[in-house]
Order: sequence, then C-alpha cells, then structure tokens
Amino acid sequence: MKVEVSPASDSLPEADVLAVPIGPNGLPATALGLDGSAQRIADEEEVGAKAGRTAVLYLDGPPRRVVLVGLGPADELDADTLRTAAAAVAEATERVGGTLAWLLDDSLPHTEQARALVDGLLLGTYDPGRWKTGAKSEAPFERLVLVGGADELVGQAERAATIAEAANRARDLANTGANELTPERLGDRASELAATHANLTAEALGPDEFIELGMGAFAGVAQGSHNPARMIVLRYEPSSAKGDVVLGLVGKAITFDTGGISIKPALYMEDMKGDMSGGAAVIEGIGVVAELGLPLRALAVVAAAENAVGGGAFRPGDILRAMNGKTIEITNTDAEGRLVLADALHYARELGATHLVDFATLTGAMNRALGDLYAGVMGNDDVWRDEVVAAGEASGDHAWPWPMHRRYRALIESAFADMKNSSVRGQAQPTYAASFLEEFVGDGPWAHVDVAGTAFFTWGRNDYLSQKGGTGYGVRLIAELATKLSA
Ligand code: BES
Ligand code: MN
Ligand code: ZN
Repeated sequence: MKVEVSPASDSLPEADVLAVPIGPNGLPATALGLDGSAQRIADEEEVGAKAGRTAVLYLDGPPRRVVLVGLGPADELDADTLRTAAAAVAEATERVGGTLAWLLDDSLPHTEQARALVDGLLLGTYDPGRWKTGAKSEAPFERLVLVGGADELVGQAERAATIAEAANRARDLANTGANELTPERLGDRASELAATHANLTAEALGPDEFIELGMGAFAGVAQGSHNPARMIVLRYEPSSAKGDVVLGLVGKAITFDTGGISIKPALYMEDMKGDMSGGAAVIEGIGVVAELGLPLRALAVVAAAENAVGGGAFRPGDILRAMNGKTIEITNTDAEGRLVLADALHYARELGATHLVDFATLTGAMNRALGDLYAGVMGNDDVWRDEVVAAGEASGDHAWPWPMHRRYRALIESAFADMKNSSVRGQAQPTYAASFLEEFVGDGPWAHVDVAGTAFFTWGRNDYLSQKGGTGYGVRLIAELATKLSA
C-alpha cells in the first residue's frame, strides 16, 4: 500500500473512497468539502456512538463513496478504536478498492493515527480463506492518502504497512494445515527470508544435528512424527549495529499438537495447527527487523516439530536429558511446548543472545485467564519483562505482566529426575510452565510471552481482528521492541 499526504481542502479529494471519522465532536475540522448532509446523516444514524459503525454515501465521484465511520465515546478512544474504524471502512467498501483518502482528526497524535489506520486496513482485510476454490486474492486499497497530515507521516505509515504485512504472512503460516506446513517447510520459509534480506542468514538443523548437539528434550517431542523436526536459526548482523545487545527471539513451532500419547480431546483439535504461531511470529518478526534495516544484532531460534501419536512417540514416564544437561521426567506428553523451548532457549543463549524473549502457545490456562486480548508475560528480570510488555502495548499486541516466584518451583519437583514437565494440580499453569523454562535460560534477562489466547483465534474478535485463525500476534511487538532497543 502506497501512502501519501495531502492538505485539507474545500474540494473533495481525488479518491475512490473518502473516510470521515465521526468523533465525540462530530465531523473533523478537515471535512471542508462536505455539505451539510454528511453531518445530518451522521446524526440520524448515530454513527459516532459506536466505534466502527459506518454509513455509506454513494456519489458519482470522485470520491464514489463517502464513508462516515464512528469512533465511539471519547473516554474509550484509543489506537484500537482507529484500527477497528479503518477495518470497518475497508469492509464497507470491499468492492471499490483503489485509493482511500482518510480525514485525519484530533482524536490521537497524527503519528499514532497513521500507524493505527494502516494496521486496521491491512490486518482487517486479511482473508483466511486461501484454500477455498476460486478464492480471489483480496485487493485492499492500493493507495492511502492521509488528509491534513505532515510529510513525515508517510515514512511512519509505510513502516507500519511493512510490519502489518509481515504479521499477515505469519497468519498465513499459522492457517496452513500441518500436512502442508511441516517443520521442513517452516525452515524453507526462513531460508527464503534470508535470501531476500541483506545481513540475514538462516540454517535449519535436522535430527542428526540436533541429537548430536544433545537436544534431548526437543528430540523426545519430535520422535513420534514422520515429518522430521528442524531447529531453525536465523541471524541478523548488520554492520550498523550499535552496542552489545543481541536480541534473542525464541519461538515454539509445534506444527500440530495432538497431545501425543496423552492425547487431546477431539473438539477444536484442528486449531492445534496454530501451535506453531509463536515460531511464525519470531521468523516473520526477525524478517521485518531485517527488512527495516534496524541497527541492532538479533538472532532467532525456532523449535519446529510435530507432536504426533505413534509407535515411535515418547511416552509418560520417559526421562529426557536436555542440552544443558538437566533431566526431565515426562508426566504428560501434551506439555511438549516447554520441552522444545528448553533446548531452544539454551541454544539461543549459547549462540550469544544477551536479551531473550520467547513466544509460545504454551498453556490453555492462559487462554482461559486472559482470553483473546492480552498475552501474559513472565520473566526472570522485571525491567526486561516490563520492556516487553511496553513494546506490546505500544504496538497493538496487548501484553500484561504475570508473576513468578521461586516458590512456584516446588510444583516441578520430580521423584526421578531434576524436574517433571507437568503437574496434576490444576494450579498456576502458566507460571508453572515459566518456572520450568527458567531452568534453561542461563544468565541474563529472559521474558516469556504466553500467546495461547492471542495468536490463533477459535472465533474472531469483535474488532479489527474479526477473522478466525492466526492473528500474527508478536510480529508488531518484536518490531517495536527491536526499534526501541536500537534507538
Ligand atoms: N498447545 C497447548 C496449549 C494451548 C491450548 C494453546 C489451547 C492454545 C489453545 C500446549 O501444548 C498444551 O497442550 N498445554 C497443556 C499443558 C498441560 C498438559 C500441563 C495445557 O495447557 O492444557
Ligand atoms: Mn500440548
Ligand atoms: Zn502445544
């Protein structure tokens, strides 16, 4: 999507669609070329009362459509409101396309408005129905004109578009069935990114290599599937990099989670094709860091495997030895995410990551606790955890801090090994899992983002992410975090 700015004028802009936000104070000051009927219709339809409510005016044009779009009550107005409004405009004019002119108002600072509008337009028009026969690729607006904006908005909006497009690619990966998206194919995607971006390299370790390295926890999960696992590593090393920070991004990429021998119930099991969403966010996230050419060093380690059932599968009672030498008693093969992350986190630290952050669809309890809006963030360093939370909040990937305490460690005690991978107690499962991960993160700050509720939707959300399936959660957070770290 190409972005331009234009001054507010009393003639209507040369666009296919003109969007007019109706804020708490009615039409924006930039609405100079509209006659009184726009205000009258906005009043009659109570457009302004609800974020994303629209009324469409059909003209001979240009513009051929004027869309009045509500921003809702003043005290609820934030960037998500604008994302939702932008998505609603795109939906109301999906058969028009072409150029969209948006009248900027005084609802939020223009930079924030521009970013939010781009998010809403690109994320809001994503179509998960790629596998429908005869599916036409959606043509969202080719051009966005920000009316009343200064020149520097163009770069900021284009940057938001680059990031939102990467998030949509992560959604494609999440929505692809496990028959198509195998660990090997995810590795190919990493190589593809490395081939397109300067200073980005990729490799994908196969079973012989990761077993040789001692990744027994990862290998245990992987052994049940006919699709060989891959430990995917991407490194971004620009010559412009400043300082000593090496951002280490770690992702859980279980291409399908049957639960293994501790098999899952059938209802909604199809959603477990999305159990690689954390890994997808990390791959597309480091890809967009490279695409933006941010001046910092980063590496990504993505543990890609299928948690399958079969004669070769690992079983409850097995004891695995992780790469850092610690032993793990398996009490539930469905608690596989923490096992693959154990080796990925240790490996990322060994490869030189100074600041670790992992993204994982780790616990059903996180989904039950925070639902589809917030991810929960835990870690071993409150300052780093809060930086991750802040990057999430600033980017639209909502995040909330969760507690950890050394006394939760008691839950992972095993009679046979250094620890066990699950507890029959239904208590504190997200923190329990994080306490387990902490055994493998080595020295230095680490944060864990449990995205079980936010990365893959069983149902859509009543805002700009209204579609079922992958959401791209984490890509915007990673771009924001890397931007802050490199500033
Ligand atoms: N991938 C699941 C977690 C999950 C559940 C993500 C629902 C998204 C939606 C994970 O591997 C898992 O099965 N976790 C178990 C752990 C338990 C056996 C200790 C869970 O949370 O039930
Ligand atoms: Mn599982
Ligand atoms: Zn899982």
